[in-house]
Amino acid sequence: MSERNSKRWPFARLFRDLPLRYKFILGFLAVIGFGGIVSLFVGTRLEHQTIFSLAQAKVRHDLASAWTVYNERLNDVRDIVRLNAGRETIQIALVQKKRDVLSNILGYVARDFQLDILTLTDSQGRVVFRSRRPENFGDDRSADPLVRRALRKELAVGTQIFSRADLLEESPDLAEKACFEFIPTPMAAERPENREENGMVLSAAAPVIDARGNLLGTLYGGVLLNRNYDIVDRVKDIVYKGEKYQGKDIGTATIFQGDLRIATNVMDEGGKRAVGTRVSREVNQAVLREGRPWVDRAFVVTHWYLTAYEPIKNVDGGTIGMLYVGMLEKPYIDVQNKVMRTFALLAGLCTVILLGLLSFFATTVTKPLQAMVTATDKIARGDLNHRLEIDDKDEIGQLAHSFNRMTEDLKNANDNLTQWGKMLEKRVEERTRELRETQGYLIQSEKLASLGKMAAGVAHEINNPLTSILINAHLMLERGRFSEELTENLTLIAEETSRCAQIVKGLLEFARQTPSQKNTADINEVAERTAQLLDKQASVRNIKILKDLDRTLPPLKLDKNKVQQVFWNLMLNACEAMLEGGTLTIRSRLGSDRRHVEVAFVDTGVGIPRENLHKLFDPFFTTKSSGTGLGLAVTYGIVQQHGGTIAVSSEVGRGSVFTLIFPLEQEEDNEIIIRRPHDEPSQEEDIGRG
Ligand SMILES: Nc1ncnc2c1ncn2[C@@H]1O[C@H](COP(=O)(O)OP(=O)(O)OP(=O)(O)O)[C@@H](O)[C@H]1O
Ligand SMILES: [Mg+2]
Repeated sequence: MSERNSKRWPFARLFRDLPLRYKFILGFLAVIGFGGIVSLFVGTRLEHQTIFSLAQAKVRHDLASAWTVYNERLNDVRDIVRLNAGRETIQIALVQKKRDVLSNILGYVARDFQLDILTLTDSQGRVVFRSRRPENFGDDRSADPLVRRALRKELAVGTQIFSRADLLEESPDLAEKACFEFIPTPMAAERPENREENGMVLSAAAPVIDARGNLLGTLYGGVLLNRNYDIVDRVKDIVYKGEKYQGKDIGTATIFQGDLRIATNVMDEGGKRAVGTRVSREVNQAVLREGRPWVDRAFVVTHWYLTAYEPIKNVDGGTIGMLYVGMLEKPYIDVQNKVMRTFALLAGLCTVILLGLLSFFATTVTKPLQAMVTATDKIARGDLNHRLEIDDKDEIGQLAHSFNRMTEDLKNANDNLTQWGKMLEKRVEERTRELRETQGYLIQSEKLASLGKMAAGVAHEINNPLTSILINAHLMLERGRFSEELTENLTLIAEETSRCAQIVKGLLEFARQTPSQKNTADINEVAERTAQLLDKQASVRNIKILKDLDRTLPPLKLDKNKVQQVFWNLMLNACEAMLEGGTLTIRSRLGSDRRHVEVAFVDTGVGIPRENLHKLFDPFFTTKSSGTGLGLAVTYGIVQQHGGTIAVSSEVGRGSVFTLIFPLEQEEDNEIIIRRPHDEPSQEEDIGRG
């Protein structure tokens, strides 16, 4: 994903930076979560629809049952009226206007069958007898639709609205019972009036016909539904069996007169029957105005109900009221919630288990990767011995295997490189040392050569005059008779001239560099002879000469005279360094490689300051007042000619060691590669000191 997209989607950036493990888990969770939410949504809808369509079917069925109860009561009224209209005693009493007889019979029937109205009219429809109000008769009831039909010898039955006047005629009690003050209902439709004075009556009218078929009159009866709870309570008992939910009736039934509750077992907040309240505007519109049934959830007085309403029609087919049954919605909602809760609990449980499993699988996949990251890091830091321990046979295992192989190869290559590097370094060092040595040798040779030329020239020129001076000085001393002072001066001249001749001889010796005349010789013997020459001088100076000579040394090809001069120079230097006396040890050995012979001169003298070490072999370097500084320069030249080297080690105040190293097999003179002695004392050389 590009940088621009990351800026636009900061969560994408965050997701990208997460460890692989969390990416796996989050990815799976997103899929599961999406699936879960969709199925939860669909499940909820389905469950809701199923539960509510079942509930609606039930409430429809319940309304049908309520109609059965309602119609039963209506049929009761019809049957009572029809049967009594056919009774001969009533017919006779009607014809004879025997009101006391009628009072007995009809009064009994009305009471016994709980009829609020039971009235007898003559064949013109004028009231002859009223069971409720016997003293009130003579009024015309022929306008009443049921009475009119009965006068036509028909049996008429139906629900009717009785006006207050009609009810007052029948009985002021009934008028009173029917009367309602509206209780304000927020959702009800507006109505101009605020009270109901009419009553709704289940009524029936039957013609009273004698045996010959003559119409004698009519008998009509009715049950006032206002505040009559028999029907609604019977519906509740039969249909809902008085079942309660959390102390509240599950089922309710209501009879409406228009939109007004006139008989109900829906209770208000105070626990009283909610008569006097009115139906909602919606139901009013659907059922009362449009005359169609209503099945839906509705808020009834205090709670939500699953309700069914159907219009109650009068005999002329006009809608005058409604029959309602309703089931408390809460039990269904609670069932739904319970199902939802169980579902959510299960979903939660599944999610937890899934998370656990996911975490396990993610770890299984990412752990080896993590190990690989750590390994890469270690290898990047140079730990090439680190190996991955992954035995899995899957792709990651294969990757780990390849990784280990790669690391192994890398290590080998690295080792080779390091070794090469070291070898190269060693070679460079060797070459540098050789170069330095050769350079030193060249410089020294150069120096010696030019000095030699000059010295030879000077010596040649000076030698003859010096010889004449010396001869003449001696002649004068022998022949002349001089004063003591002059004799002394002449002696000094002779001595100093002799010293000069000595220097010249040394110079010539140094410069001559004559080819060596090598013969097979015993180097120990040369050493011993030289020591013998020095012995006297040494004992005078209180110096002890010790000889530590290896008698098994093989013979060497040497120019004995020159080597003797070398030994002499070194021994003399050693003696001159031991002013207070000491020990000079001469040691000969076969080299550890058995290809060299070493001869060391170890003294216990004053030692050589470090800064002088590299100047020792320079011609004319001397620290002595009477020295020429040519001794070691000559020595160096001779050793060179023998293909050997000189090593020096020294410690001021303790003594010095000069070691000569002669090869057993020498090359030809002109091909000799001479190694200049090391300036710095070596460890090995230090051992022999003192
Ligand atoms: N064994 C030694 N102990 C201390 N110093 C030494 C020793 N050998 C040589 N040297 C130092 O090296 C210098 C050079 O020695 P070299 O033999 O070349 O000349 P010299 O002894 O001074 O003079 P010459 O040998 O002509 O009498 C000496 O002056 C001395 O300082
Ligand atoms: Mg010397």
